[in-house]
This record gives sequence, C-alpha cells and structure tokens, in this order.
Amino acid sequence: MSKIRKIFGLFYRYILKPFFFLFDPELVHDRVTFLGEFLGRFSLTRFLLSKIFVYKHSMLEQQILGINFPNPVGLAAGFDKDAWLARIIPSVGFGFEEVGSVTGKPCKGNEGKRLWRLKKSKGLVVYYGLKNEGAKKVADRLFKFKLRTPLGVSIAKTNDQETVSEEEGINDYIKAYLEFRNRNIGDYFTVNISCPNTFGGEPFTDPSRLDRLLLKLRETGEGDSTPFFLKLPAELPRSQIDKIIEVAKKHKIEGLICTNLAKSRDNKNIKDEVPNVGGMSGRVVGEMSDDLIAYIYQRVGKQFVIVGCGGIFSAEDAYRKIKNGASLLQLITGLIFEGPQLIGEINEGLVKLLKKDGYKNISEAVGTK
Ligand SMILES: Cc1cc2nc3c(=O)[nH]c(=O)nc-3n(C[C@H](O)[C@H](O)[C@H](O)COP(=O)(O)O)c2cc1C
Repeated sequence: MSKIRKIFGLFYRYILKPFFFLFDPELVHDRVTFLGEFLGRFSLTRFLLSKIFVYKHSMLEQQILGINFPNPVGLAAGFDKDAWLARIIPSVGFGFEEVGSVTGKPCKGNEGKRLWRLKKSKGLVVYYGLKNEGAKKVADRLFKFKLRTPLGVSIAKTNDQETVSEEEGINDYIKAYLEFRNRNIGDYFTVNISCPNTFGGEPFTDPSRLDRLLLKLRETGEGDSTPFFLKLPAELPRSQIDKIIEVAKKHKIEGLICTNLAKSRDNKNIKDEVPNVGGMSGRVVGEMSDDLIAYIYQRVGKQFVIVGCGGIFSAEDAYRKIKNGASLLQLITGLIFEGPQLIGEINEGLVKLLKKDGYKNISEAVGTK
C-alpha cells in the first residue's frame, strides 16, 4: 500500500498543491473541510480512504493515560475547530485528533484576511482570533458521532471584550469545559493558554493567573478523571516555563503540548515577507518546539506526557521530537504543504527508524536523545 501513498504524494505535491496554492488559504481550507465532512459520512468512503492512507503497526501503538493511541501522529487544534472532520480523521491515518480551540461563546474571529502561506519558510501566518461555533454547538455535533480514535478537546476563552477580566475569562473556559464534560465527550482536554491573536493577550501564561484558572477548572471537574493537557506558547522565557510547570504539577495536569504558534518576527527561519499580525507555524516554530520539548523532558522526565507540535514535515522531524521527549505528536502545516499521505509516510518512516535503533515500541525511544 505504500506505493499508493507514494503516488498520491506525487499527485498532491505536483498537481493538487499548486492548484490549491492559487487560491486564498482560508477559502481552500473551508472547501477541503466541506469535502472531508462529506466523505466522512459514509462507511464506504471511509473504508476506501483508509486503504490509501492508513499505515498500521504494533510498534506505534501506545496506551497513555489509559487512552489507546493506534499511532502517535495527531491533528493539532485549529485545523478542525468545529469538529466537522472528526469522522474522517482515522481514515486519513491520524492516531488522534484535537478539535477546537472551542470557547464558551461562539466567536466569528478577527475581521479581514487571517491566514497567509509562507511558501519559502514552509509555514503559515494565522490570525483567526479563535473563530469557532462555540462549545455548545461543537459538543452537540460530536455527541452524535461514534469515533474510532482518541479525541482531545481544546478549550480557550472567547475572544471578546467581555471575557478580558480574569473572572469572566475563567468562567468562559469553564463554560466550554462543561459543555463537553457533561456529555462525556473527549478523551482528554487541552487548556489553551497560548492563542496569540486575542483581546487582552495571553493572560493565563502568568503563573498566578494560571493557578487560579486551573484551580477553578479542577474544582468544577471534581470526580472527572479525563486527563488535562496545557498548550504552551513557543517563546516564553525558561524561568516562566519553570513556574508554569510548577503550577501544572500542583493541579495534576497530565500533559504539556509544545508548542503553539511563534510570534516573534525576529526568527532566522522566516524567509518570506510576513504581515504584522498573527502567529507563525511550520518551520518557523519547529526548532522552538524541539528545544522546549527537550528542556521540559530534561527537567521533569515522564512526569508529564509531552506532545510535540510544530514543524513536523517528515518521519525524521517526528523522531527528533520523540527522542527529545515527546510521546505524542501533532501537526497541521505539514499536512497542508505535503498532503494527507504524510501521516502514513511519517508512521511508516518511524517504524523504520525505530527498527534501525533496535526499539520494539515507540515508547522506548521517548527521551533517548
Ligand atoms: C490555521 C491554524 C489555526 C490554529 N488554531 C489553533 C487553535 O485554535 N488552538 C490552538 O491551540 N492552536 C491553534 N493553532 C496552532 C497549531 O495547533 C499548532 O500548535 C501550530 O500550527 C504548530 O504546528 P504545525 O507547525 O504543525 O502547524 C493553529 C494553527 C493553524 C495553522
């Protein structure tokens, strides 16, 4: 089957991608979502797609926090904000998906153009401003689906003036959380404290505010054993990361996602003109993500599940993050630049790399750099 993936890869790289790249990125994304949702409705299309895209191997299977991951490659938050694609995700080869970020109230996001491609830098500039249909609608949608792979739900606070105060901000996270928790949706929750494009900045990267947010979330969720992850920004000073780790430990957060989008324009990996607004993905954030994974793993080892996210375009990129300390991986930009067969290519490549290094399961390679 790897032959079919190779052929699809050529088709994507030389025909589909150049065609897609003629149009506005948000328009293409919306059309692809529409198509993906349609194909996800039927068992026949799901089956046929899985024959092309899925690569399975027992070396890639892990049980983490009681969740069975068929492979370590997940779709990162932001591509499927409103969970339209949840049914098709396993057929494209992903081992899990994170929907959202979803907020307490529906949010239209920022006005005007809000997604750009950085062709030379292999990245995107994202300025959506947490566009999403709101927690209730997304939970209603997911409630109807029977999903085959683990689902993470990324929650954030609504991007509007009303949630700028700390209290209202916390209430909004809780509102979003409860919509899912009350209907038992989600294998894990991610608290997104690092959306770069919102009113009032990123208040909950401040350790004492984060402490209060997590306290309230944990109090609200008493009795709920669903794991909680925290999504970290790419560019915080290490001293602040240390404090966030302490707060995360205090509230028994199970996982850390490294990382969200990069903000600083002072970055050697930027090779295109970039707009003044928005956060950057792909190669622009890849090294920062690698470094933060390694830093956190060296400090806390396996106390947290580390999810490596940022700039994964190949099995080698994925393996580097695993060796740095990541147990799971997430991506978006690689999917857009390389095509959906990339997921199977990464998984197949990972098995080869693991075998070469003499490992029997991917979990043995975590943190072995
Ligand atoms: C179009 C787009 C929208 C995103 N929206 C979100 C979001 O809503 N919540 C979030 O936590 N991260 C969001 N992100 C960040 C990604 O989840 C990820 O952290 C980042 O893109 C780095 O991974 P990549 O290089 O594989 O794209 C978004 C990224 C992209 C490209």
